[in-house]
Amino acid sequence: MLLAIPQAVNAAQLAELRARLAPSNPDWVDGRVTAGSQGVAVKNNRQIGERTETARTLGDVVLGALERNPLFISATLPNQVYPPMFNRYDVGMYFGNHIDNAVRLLPGTGMKLRTDLSVTVFLAEPDSYDGGELVIEDRYGTQAVKLAAGDAVVYPSTSLHQVTPITRGARLACFFWVQSLIADDNQRRILFDIDQAIQRLAATGADAAACTQLSGSYHNLLRLWSAP
Ligand code: NI
Repeated sequence: MLLAIPQAVNAAQLAELRARLAPSNPDWVDGRVTAGSQGVAVKNNRQIGERTETARTLGDVVLGALERNPLFISATLPNQVYPPMFNRYDVGMYFGNHIDNAVRLLPGTGMKLRTDLSVTVFLAEPDSYDGGELVIEDRYGTQAVKLAAGDAVVYPSTSLHQVTPITRGARLACFFWVQSLIADDNQRRILFDIDQAIQRLAATGADAAACTQLSGSYHNLLRLWSAP
């Protein structure tokens, strides 16, 4: 499932992120430092160094916003989240077709995270740059994603994807991975649909006992499918 999360960060958070991610920030490094062997050949961008204060502080801003976002939680059912990273594509930069590494080491912990979902938060206004579409090939075909600043997109990490070359301006984004409680994309989609239906039923004053029963079934399915 490919899902847009409107206003994943608010205007104040967006302003803080952009100010700290100015081109003059000395923490910008070559993006190839975190690319796998497959990605390194096709990756050409800049990233904020992973273990910098900039990455930690701004990552907390993004995660702090998303962990309070009901749509994000409902769609991802997060178990572990990789610390957010930040990238910048100037004119001529791109990230060719690749699939994200299935497993990543959580920095400083020795623990491993299985990448079930990839998340991109767009931080530059779409009319401030040309190119830079996130092109995702999922089972329903190819989709080019370029969202308003502050919006996020969540998509399966199993998808082949690329960022097209920038021809004007600069594309600024935050990205990270989620290991979901539900590894399977189909099961996660079913739970998301049920949860969304429960929210709508509750908001429209449906029979309370039936809502409770349906909500119980949701949690029982979640318990069943999230068991190791
Ligand atoms: Ni990728």
